Amino acid sequence: MAAKLIDGKGLAARIREELAVEVETFHKTTDVQPHLAAVLVGEDPASAVYVRNKQKACEKCGIKSTLHRLDESTSQSQLLELVDELNRDVAVHGILVQLPLPSHIDETAVLDAVAPLKDVDCFHPENVGLMVQGRPRYLPCTPAGCQRLVAEAGVETSGAHAVVVGRSEIVGKPMAMMLVQKGDFANATVTITHSRTKDLPEITRSADILIAAIGRPKFITAEMIKPGACVIDVGINRLDGKLVGDVDFEAALEVAGSITPVPGGVGPMTIAMLLQNSLTAARLQTD
Ligand code: GUN
Repeated sequence: MAAKLIDGKGLAARIREELAVEVETFHKTTDVQPHLAAVLVGEDPASAVYVRNKQKACEKCGIKSTLHRLDESTSQSQLLELVDELNRDVAVHGILVQLPLPSHIDETAVLDAVAPLKDVDCFHPENVGLMVQGRPRYLPCTPAGCQRLVAEAGVETSGAHAVVVGRSEIVGKPMAMMLVQKGDFANATVTITHSRTKDLPEITRSADILIAAIGRPKFITAEMIKPGACVIDVGINRLDGKLVGDVDFEAALEVAGSITPVPGGVGPMTIAMLLQNSLTAARLQTD
């Protein structure tokens, strides 16, 4: 039997509609418009598309967005200067530095420089620490989107075995921490796997919830999926001119219980969670 499709696009649209109402109420009652500043360094075409989509989504839901486009040759100190300026600008509530940055720039140094209250990506160690301790200021956008998708699929997470494939700071690590927390849509038993994991298929086959975030096209094959499992595909890869996830989608459809498509799964949810964090940022910085 074919798996149930988890409609990230539809869920994200509903969340954006609800947020638009909340943003309007906040704007009216405080006279403050939430404002996200995005920083894009260089000419990476995929990053340019992501940033444009984030900006469009902001505008549609009443959040002001400004784009700071910097040349590929921008130095680290020039970028840090811009971050400092945005940190000090009281009209800016959220700062998003699109990754990856050019290789001559130390990403960690730049992300650490973003004021924690404006860190809508939840990349700053203070915010990561708060999240890990179960008292989040912000939730990281992609993992938060994945968690909402598991909930949307109606899958019980409490006591379930969740296997996260990939240990990145942006997705894998925070995803595992969120699923293991005490709380709703969590309380899972979590295994983090990565490129050096031995007997990976055996581990993934024991997953009730499988989060694929390894960044390799069609890496998760049907044989690696437990029948009936909930499969969340974080991957966005280009293969022969086509956008594919980290899961071999067509084959997985026959085994999984529910699965997110690529595109139309995790991607739109990441943006919806960013909008949510941008409103939270404005709230936290408005008396
Ligand atoms: N590059 C890929 N994903 C992300 C993300 O979630 N945030 C930022 N800032 N850059 C990214």
